[in-house]
Amino acid sequence: MTRAVFILNGPNLNLLGVREPDIYGRMTLADIERACRRRASALGFGVEFRQSNSEGELIGWVQEARTAAVGIIINAAALTHTSVALLDALLAVGVPVYEVHISNIFRREPFRHHSYISAAATAVICGCGAFGYELALEALAEALARSAQHSG
Ligand code: DQA
Repeated sequence: MTRAVFILNGPNLNLLGVREPDIYGRMTLADIERACRRRASALGFGVEFRQSNSEGELIGWVQEARTAAVGIIINAAALTHTSVALLDALLAVGVPVYEVHISNIFRREPFRHHSYISAAATAVICGCGAFGYELALEALAEALARSAQHSG
């Protein structure tokens, strides 16, 4: 059975490519999805790649991942800095969570320096551009391989 990874994207990430390109680069979300699918298939993962501007929809997908995914990669966008509800969903999910930001949030406005969801994350990758999604896939694959080894 293919191991599925949920790659979830929050508000306004549908506008990548045209949205503040000096901060987020010129890659569109479709470009990022293609790169993730390529990398994931090399690692033996299937991918559910989704984007929503709605907090509730994202929370629903996190809940779905409890039984449908081996891990979550999430760029929660602005909800990173506001959503206790998304944190609670991620704390309950029971699969490893990798938080990704395209930009280096610590070099930006102070309100972006705090992430609610980091408290549920195995790792946070930020400032590597869109390549951060692929780094997260690699890190997840490595962590799963290590934990499989340890469990015999
Ligand atoms: C972002 C950083 C957030 O602060 C911002 O609200 C986003 C994108 C990033 O990928 O760099 O929408 O998550």
